[in-house]
Formats: sequence, C-alpha cells, structure tokens
Amino acid sequence: MSEAKKLAAEKAIQYVEDNMIVGVGTGSTVAYFIDALAAWKDRIQGAVSSSEQSTARLQAHGIDVIDLNAAGPLSLYVDGADECDPDKCLIKGGGAALTREKIIAEASERFICIVDPSKQVPVLGKFPLPVEVIPMARSLVARKLLELTGGQPVWRDGVITDNGNVILDIHNLAITDPVAMERAINQIPGVVSVGLFARRPADVVIVGGQPPLVL
Ligand code: 5RP
Repeated sequence: MSEAKKLAAEKAIQYVEDNMIVGVGTGSTVAYFIDALAAWKDRIQGAVSSSEQSTARLQAHGIDVIDLNAAGPLSLYVDGADECDPDKCLIKGGGAALTREKIIAEASERFICIVDPSKQVPVLGKFPLPVEVIPMARSLVARKLLELTGGQPVWRDGVITDNGNVILDIHNLAITDPVAMERAINQIPGVVSVGLFARRPADVVIVGGQPPLVL
C-alpha cells in the first residue's frame, strides 16, 4: 500500500501553485506529499501544519511553517484519511491529529484527500471513529457516545494529542448519515472534535494507483 500512497501524494503536487501557503495534513501518505513538496520549497511561501509530526518533517526539508492566524484563508489543503465514502466524506484521526486537520480543512478553499485504494468504503464506520475529548470528560463522553451511536467507545490509552487531550475510538459503527452523526457528536460537552469530515468533506480524492484515480 505504501507505493499507492506515494503515487497519490505525488499526484497531489499538481495542485500546488507558485507563491502558495499550502495546508498540510498528517500521516504516512502525507509524509510522501511533504517529501515531494520539498522540490517546491523556493516557489511556495510555506506551509500550515496540522501536527508536530508534520511540522518536524516540513522543517527538516527547509519548508517554512506558518501559523494559521498569520496565513489567513488557504487555497489548498492536502491530507490523507482512514476511510473515504462515495460522497468524499471521511473518517480521519487515526494519527490523533483530527482537530488541527479539521481547522485547516475549514480554512481552505480546496481540500485534496490522498488515499490508497484500501481506504475507499461504501459506508463509513469499519475504521473506529476517533473523537478528541477534554481529559476530565472522558468517561462522561464515552457514556454519551454509547447512548448516541450504539457503537463501543474505547479509550486510546497512552495517547495525548498535540492539544493535550485524549482520544476515544468508537468501534462497530455503520455511518449512514455522516452529517447528522458529526453534528450530534459535536453537541456533547467535552468533545473537542470528531474525526468525521462530512459537513466539510474533501473536494477532490486522489486514489493512488498506476495511474492515480482523481475523483
Ligand atoms: C491523522 C489522519 C491521517 O490522515 C489518517 O490516519 C491516514 O493516515 P495514513 O496516511 O498514515 O494512512 O487523519 O490524524
């Protein structure tokens, strides 16, 4: 699958233009994108990063990392996903970076999602749905998620997000109405964000292959 991830990432470089500030996601697919972006480092202004992990890789390539508050609206965001449905709705957060990823997706005019073919699903939910939660609300939110979704929330023990919070992964879901589920989970006090990207889905999905598929 890593070859497919690389092919998707390299295809996404076609969307980069001179002088851009590029929004950059997190994960192994995005790592290939960052490596390819290195060839553009003197042609772009820099990148807005969604995680400490991506920041380190961008800086190692000499790409300037710019604060989103200074950058303003972005024209392009490139990120991976854990699952992608036919409407380009996504599950994200396998790498625990969902909140910053969602913020950058919202700030961006165009969201290009880069995946290998295993990420394409007819219905979201086989991959456990990540929810970032304020630590003191962990048990409360887990009970509410169980009630609300019927899935099984599991604490991702040992993981603290870049924002100092914890992750609950909801197992055994079949998400037939992703927009409604995203909205409902967002209402629970203590939830910082949910890794459902449905209200703001991807605009373009690139599935790695020979040749890559652009959806
Ligand atoms: C990180 C994410 C990633 O985009 C997602 O987990 C996919 O990762 P990978 O490209 O390693 O398969 O949402 O929070």
